[in-house]
Amino acid sequence: MEATDKAIETLNNESKVSPAQTCGPCVLVMFGASGDLTRRKLIPALYNLAHNKLLPERFAILGFSRQSVDTVTFRDQMNSSIREYATGAISEEIWQWLLARLHSMTGDYQDPRAYEKLKAELKTIDEEHGTQGNYLFYLATPPALFPSIVQNLGAQGLTEERDRHWRRVVIEKPFGSDLESARRLNEQLAAILRETQVYRIDHYLGKETVQNLLVFRFGNGIFEPVWNRRYVDHVQITVAETVGVEKRASYFEGAGTLRDMVPSHVLQLLALIAMEPPISFSAGAIHDEKAKVLYAIPSMSKEDVSDRVVSGQYGNGIVNGISAQSYRLEPGVRPDSATETFVALKLMIDNWRWAGVPFYIRTGKRMPRRVTEIAIEFKRPPLLLFKKQQGAEISPNVLVIRVFPKEGISLRFGAKIPGPTLRLGNVDMMFSYKDYFGTTPNTGYETLLFDAICGDQTLFRRADSVEAGWAVIDPIMRTWKERVVESFPNYAAGSSGPKESDELLAKDGRQWRRIE
Ligand code: BG6
Repeated sequence: MEATDKAIETLNNESKVSPAQTCGPCVLVMFGASGDLTRRKLIPALYNLAHNKLLPERFAILGFSRQSVDTVTFRDQMNSSIREYATGAISEEIWQWLLARLHSMTGDYQDPRAYEKLKAELKTIDEEHGTQGNYLFYLATPPALFPSIVQNLGAQGLTEERDRHWRRVVIEKPFGSDLESARRLNEQLAAILRETQVYRIDHYLGKETVQNLLVFRFGNGIFEPVWNRRYVDHVQITVAETVGVEKRASYFEGAGTLRDMVPSHVLQLLALIAMEPPISFSAGAIHDEKAKVLYAIPSMSKEDVSDRVVSGQYGNGIVNGISAQSYRLEPGVRPDSATETFVALKLMIDNWRWAGVPFYIRTGKRMPRRVTEIAIEFKRPPLLLFKKQQGAEISPNVLVIRVFPKEGISLRFGAKIPGPTLRLGNVDMMFSYKDYFGTTPNTGYETLLFDAICGDQTLFRRADSVEAGWAVIDPIMRTWKERVVESFPNYAAGSSGPKESDELLAKDGRQWRRIE
């Protein structure tokens, strides 16, 4: 047996979870149960958890939706959608186990009487499934409804943690639309819930490679000593998508890429890369360090915004060999829309570790490839001994953490090309998750649901880091409000963004990595 196969086998055996590691009985109440998220992600993720014996035996799901759907119909609907969205083959036995735990109720999210009915339903379910009054409320509804749902739950006493039962609320993205609205929402939640009851989702934190960032940085001794301004030249974070706006124009037109991606996903990646070592692996200690580093990003002036932020909107072009139409021609988009579908920015972190090290970020739709990666480029050696040798143009060392695709970590360094003359070349040392650990098909929601059921908040966003994220982009949004954009569309679908994005790095004598 190859060494790699042995490693996979050992890890697979070690990672088998014993039933003792499942978490306590509970009811998962899904608000917005007739929506896409439930069908495409949540139910398939719950199936995967059931498959891995990670759901409690005493468990039930109550779908709450505005559309009138009784339990029989809800089960029928989920029974057909699982065939479409399951991430692998379905075991009928496991699926029937889960299906028997699905219930449905109908109500208006803003009607207090619906919550009286919900309370009664939950009591019945507790009796039927032995779920002991533990409730996880999952809010997959339009964000405008979050406050009233929580208020109504509170008014019925459904958020009170008493007699050893727990109550938790999972809030989907987007959390606010700027700093002020995020603060207001945090206050509205805090009036009813304790912070330990609030689970703010960022699905990027559910990605394996993102979770591995903490292990990579703090489970290894050799990287930390060079993880600072002395050795790091700059950091590039790229989140490139090939998709356009899809059918989400009604949301996206008001949001744009800056709001949609940066305060949440991109800044969470940045926080994990740049944070100080936490004092323990507890959720609180990790959240403290993440919030601290985000608060160390200085607020941008109007001049900073024009110098350090680039926006773009895609025009017609070709993505993956298929022609793609301009954003302004997409259904539901205004023909003169000024909404950005691309953004590139240079952020600084004013603390002792990172002072002077730029963090370049770019994210956009209709890019040439779907890629999410973090590249840490190190400074060159102080003395280039090989300057005069042929082929001595070696690149700096770069550590790349690849979140998607080809999940893994690579390190580029210079090496001698074999032969009697001294010639240098660049080589990449590559660790690929797939080769080492194999792949486990998943929706990305399994870990997050499991952690919420178990009461582990580590992979959720705390109120302060949500606000710190908005504080970074608020000055940009304010400055943009006053501008008139004449240059849109300014990049072709399938290209790597507008030329100003390249110029942003060129001004500093640097260049973006290729999106490939
Ligand atoms: C969502 C954004 O939060 O993340 C979408 O609203 C974006 O616009 C998506 O497409 C990207 O997620 P992923 O996991 O496909 O990289």
